[in-house]
Amino acid sequence: MSSLQGKVVVITGAAGGLGGSLCDGFANEECRLVLADKNATKLADSVSSLQQRGASALGVPTDLTDTGQIRQMLQALMNAYDRIDVLVNNAGLCTARSFWSLTEQDWDEVLNVNVKGLFFALQTAATHMRDRAGNDGYSDAAFLAIGPRGAAGATESQRSSPRTNREYRGSCLCGCFLSK
Ligand SMILES: NC(=O)c1ccc[n+]([C@@H]2O[C@H](COP(=O)([O-])OP(=O)(O)OC[C@H]3O[C@@H](n4cnc5c(N)ncnc54)[C@H](O)[C@@H]3O)[C@@H](O)[C@H]2O)c1
Repeated sequence: MSSLQGKVVVITGAAGGLGGSLCDGFANEECRLVLADKNATKLADSVSSLQQRGASALGVPTDLTDTGQIRQMLQALMNAYDRIDVLVNNAGLCTARSFWSLTEQDWDEVLNVNVKGLFFALQTAATHMRDRAGNDGYSDAAFLAIGPRGAAGATESQRSSPRTNREYRGSCLCGCFLSK
């Protein structure tokens, strides 16, 4: 039996390329998946194909630039499962424009998803993880950030927090190019 079996795993940007591969990987481990993405159509397709292969998958359309929607997404999953074990902060944008043509709007769009959205998803999920930690302050909850370099700082800041560093684990993969 996999040590991840039955874990409640939230994957942001789940309807995208790497998100799809992450869902497949966690589904293979028999996790209960919560897929969050702002593209509701692609999200529904992803949920449906996971369910067709027998995986447990719940889709929650979420725009991560809106902190209210982040809270609603995490509340929806708490209503369904009453716990969150793993957050994979995968959603992100990359604007392929030259230095000279990058606009303020481009800048805001990228930072709002890659840094602000990531941070508030992490903060909200970590609050649930902290509240579930046992009397000894330990739980096996974890979060993983993938992609945006801003992920590193946000994730590390939680890891090194003196009071909470035994309540969940954080890891960060960033700055590399990956393909499905
Ligand atoms: N593929 C690569 O080579 C590569 C390299 C470096 C970093 N990354 C990072 O890995 C992550 C995934 O990359 P990918 O190639 O799968 O990208 P992708 O574009 O295929 O998928 C990204 C997903 O994020 C979703 N998303 C975008 N904005 C959102 C928002 N505001 N709220 C919710 N969802 C939103 C999109 O709808 C999409 O489904 C990204 O953070 C990306 O920056 C990827």
